[in-house]
Amino acid sequence: MDQGLWITVDRYLTDTLLPPDYQMENALEANACAGLPAIDVAPNQGKMLNLIARVQGSRRILEIGTLGGYSTIWLARALPADGKLITLELDPKHAAVAQANMQRTGLASLVDIRVGPAVESLEKLHAENSGPFDFVFLDADKPNYPVYLDWAVKLSRPGTVILTDNVVRDGAIVDKNNKDERVQGTRAFLEKLGNHPRLDATAIQTVGSKGYDGFALAVVKP
Ligand code: SAH
Ligand code: DHB
Ligand code: MG
Repeated sequence: MDQGLWITVDRYLTDTLLPPDYQMENALEANACAGLPAIDVAPNQGKMLNLIARVQGSRRILEIGTLGGYSTIWLARALPADGKLITLELDPKHAAVAQANMQRTGLASLVDIRVGPAVESLEKLHAENSGPFDFVFLDADKPNYPVYLDWAVKLSRPGTVILTDNVVRDGAIVDKNNKDERVQGTRAFLEKLGNHPRLDATAIQTVGSKGYDGFALAVVKP
């Protein structure tokens, strides 16, 4: 594995395909200043999320795992003026940094940050009849991925896209005896995805500035 080359190629792709983006750079800087871990999606991955949401015509987006809102900005930018993105975050400090980033990017009116354990927020969203969402981005605590998948389907409609980050984790997911609950959670998630009667799914491995990992893509069947 040559992470140096992956980083160089990521930089080349980003410099070649993505215009300079001060809003995005400022958000990353604000996150770093606040001491948040740099576990956001990479710029070229964020743009990929943005493009998939646009291709799908997403008007209502659900994100599980906000951090400082870097992926949130990419996704919210895909929305029409009357669209909505609801993002769920456990840590009030992360949520506050994200809220400031939404204000600075002018996206605050489109984005609703709900603070607390995502499972509780999801129950509330369901009780409020907040669904269905057109696009779900799953990127929070990995042990709960199977639970989040059930909620994503519950809050979906036929055609809803469910995109999930970090499904490969340096290849650890092929080790069925791995003791890490994040690895076991991701394995249980992938098995659930593969066996789900209402979902059509695939996953791809990725390398780049964020290391060796992967995305799973699913669509809710008609
Ligand atoms: N989507 C972000 C990165 C999210 S990192 C981006 O790409 O920019 C994962 C986030 O999930 C962290 O901020 C973490 O605090 C949050 N998280 C962890 N456990 C959670 C839970 N039970 N409910 C909601 N959020 C949780
Ligand atoms: C971690 C979480 C993420 O969502 C990610 O993209 C990378 C790392 C983590 O918890 O370590
Ligand atoms: Mg992630």
